[in-house]
Amino acid sequence: MRCVLPKRSTQSGVTGAAPVQAASSWLGGLTPKAFMATYWQQQPLLVRQAHGGPWMTRAQLFALAARDDVEARWVQKNGTQWQLTHGPWTQAWLRRAAQSPAASLLVQGVDTQLASVRAVLEAFRFVGDARLDDVMVSWASPGGGVGPHLDHYDVFLLQARGQRRWSIAPPPVTPRWRRGVPLKQLVGFQATQQWTLQPGDMLYLPPGWAHHGVSLDDACMTYSIGFRAPQARALALDVLLRQADEGEAASAWYTDRGAVPASEPARMPATLQRFAQHAVKRLAQDHAAVSLALGESLTEPKPHTWFAPTQRAWRNGAVRVHAATRVLYDDQTFFINGESYRMHGADAPWLMRLANQRALGVDDMRGVTANVRQAVKAWVAQGWLVPADALG
Ligand code: SIN
Ligand code: CO
Repeated sequence: MRCVLPKRSTQSGVTGAAPVQAASSWLGGLTPKAFMATYWQQQPLLVRQAHGGPWMTRAQLFALAARDDVEARWVQKNGTQWQLTHGPWTQAWLRRAAQSPAASLLVQGVDTQLASVRAVLEAFRFVGDARLDDVMVSWASPGGGVGPHLDHYDVFLLQARGQRRWSIAPPPVTPRWRRGVPLKQLVGFQATQQWTLQPGDMLYLPPGWAHHGVSLDDACMTYSIGFRAPQARALALDVLLRQADEGEAASAWYTDRGAVPASEPARMPATLQRFAQHAVKRLAQDHAAVSLALGESLTEPKPHTWFAPTQRAWRNGAVRVHAATRVLYDDQTFFINGESYRMHGADAPWLMRLANQRALGVDDMRGVTANVRQAVKAWVAQGWLVPADALG
C-alpha cells in the first residue's frame, strides 16, 4: 500500500546511518567482512563459544508452544517411523510427551517473543535486514532431531543448552528423498564432518549443505538463526501482482479495431498475444515500480503476526520498532510492514535512523520533523512501534 508523507524541503544535520556492531566473538574472531568474504554462502564454519547467553529455558519454550499464535511442530521418532504434529498443545501434554526419547519440539519466530532471543538475531544484522528471517528454537530429548536434510537457506545453528551432535556433508548433486515420512529427509546421507556442540558453540551452514543433528541429553536446546532468500518466480509473481494492483485504474484495455472476421473462431489472435507480452514487459521494465513493490513485499509481516494497538498514552518519548515489524528503505522510499512512504528532504535521515537503529531516542524525538513525528505517532497507535520502555 502506498502512502505519502507531506513534502517539506528543509535539510537537517542528522545522519541515518547507524552501523551495526561488529560481532567478533560470534564469528570466532573473524570480522563480519572476513566472514562474508570467505564463508558466507561458501563453506561451513564451526565457532566454539560464540555466545555466552542468557538462554531461554525449556519451560519458556513449552509455554510458547501452548499458544495458538505461535507456530510449533512436534517430531517423534519411533524406531524407523517418524511422526509430525502441529501445535498448540497444553503444557501438561508437552511435559508428558517430553518423557519419551527421540522427541523434538521446534518453535518458529521466537525472536518476536523474547528480547534475549531477539538480541541474538540482532547480532546478525551485518548480513542486512532484507535477508534476516527468524530464530527457530528447538528442544529435543536424547536421540531427538528431524533427521538428515538440507535447507535452501543459510543457517547458524547455535547450541543454547545441553549437547547436540551435528553431522554434515556438502550439497548432494542429486538429493534423494525418503518416501513415506512426514518430513523431508535425505536418503543415503554420508557425513563428511561431525562435531559435538556444547552450550555457546555455533555452526554456520550455507544453503544446500546436508545436516543431521541428534540430541545427546534431555537439556538440548538449539537456536537456528535463519535467513531468507526469495525464489525468482515467487518474487516476480508477488512484485507483478502488487504492481498490477496499484496501476489497475490507469491500465489500458485491449482493443482490436480493424480486425477481420475470424475464419478459425477458436484461434488465439496474435495481436492479443503481443498485447499480453507488452503488458508484462511494461510492468517489468518500470524499475521504480518494481523497487517499490519489492520493498513492500519484503517488509510484509510474517503470516500470523498480530500487532496490538498501543493503549497507553504516548507523548513523543523514545520508541522502539516492534520485534515483528519489518523495516527497510531505499534511496527514495521507506518501507514498513508492507507499506511504502516516499521520503522527502529532512524526513529521510530520521526514517533511515529509525530503520537502522530500530529505535529513536528521546533526543531524536525532539529533533524529528513534524512529518516524522506524525508518522511515528500513527505507527505507535498501530502497535508497529512501541514506547521504548514497553515490551514488544
Ligand atoms: C533442529 O534444531 O532440530 C533442526 C535445525 C535445522 O536442522 O535446521
Ligand atoms: Co536444517
